[in-house]
Amino acid sequence: MLVVLVISDLKVHIGPLYILQGVSFKLRKGETFFLIGRNGAGKSTLLKTLVGFIKPSSGSIVFEGKDITYQPPYVRARLGIRYVPDNKRLFASLSVEDNLLASLLAEGLSRSKAMDRIEYVYSLFPDLKRLRKLKASQLSGGQQQMLNLARAIASPSLKLLLADEPVEGLSPIFVSKILEAFSKLVEEGVTMVIVETMPVIMKKLSGRCAILNAGRIVFEGSTEDLLKNEIIMKTYFGLA
Ligand SMILES: Nc1ncnc2c1ncn2[C@@H]1O[C@H](COP(=O)(O)OP(=O)(O)O)[C@@H](O)[C@H]1O
Ligand SMILES: [Mg+2]
Repeated sequence: MLVVLVISDLKVHIGPLYILQGVSFKLRKGETFFLIGRNGAGKSTLLKTLVGFIKPSSGSIVFEGKDITYQPPYVRARLGIRYVPDNKRLFASLSVEDNLLASLLAEGLSRSKAMDRIEYVYSLFPDLKRLRKLKASQLSGGQQQMLNLARAIASPSLKLLLADEPVEGLSPIFVSKILEAFSKLVEEGVTMVIVETMPVIMKKLSGRCAILNAGRIVFEGSTEDLLKNEIIMKTYFGLA
């Protein structure tokens, strides 16, 4: 299958600190890639570098054959790269529907095209349809995280989804709802990089994964290999 993303020897330093010390990997179209690692390993820094919020000191990021290493986030967004941050960045005073509408109109969609996309995300997250008139600030943490994800998924140009701990702190019911949405994206051929700390997600979605340790990839393989590896499971998930 087609290779869509090629990361080569990516280095990021903040002040005197090297946060990423030469990260390389390739993703094929429709592949799900999990990033695992302890706190401070550099997972969020890697996603922020892929979306364009952090400039690397060296190395390259090539997406669909284009070198985007130094392209700003809005150019990457136009190419179909979307990011779901681990902190919530919603318009608290806007309704659920207006939050979705605002990002689609900002992307240049007509109102009627935007409404079509909103119906599509409502089909993935029926709860959001029910809650569409509520202000984002009135939603529970799990509902806000659904809305965060919905905003990224609503984009008709979505090709590469970068999600930072998308189910962190959510109750099992929300975890399964978000997992269902991810499964649908897989069926639609969306490529995903998911920073994840829960084995259940990898069991359900499967794909490839990499363990990041102090800014380097120390393991790369299939999720099956990872889940079978007792040492890794014990070290990174506290499970034997
Ligand atoms: N803006 C910053 N200034 C200084 N150090 C930072 C900054 N952002 C991240 N770091 C450091 O970079 C390392 C990696 O952080 P991060 O990418 O958030 O790790 P992870 O997401 O894997 O927990 C940590 O040691 C963190 O303290
Ligand atoms: Mg992080």
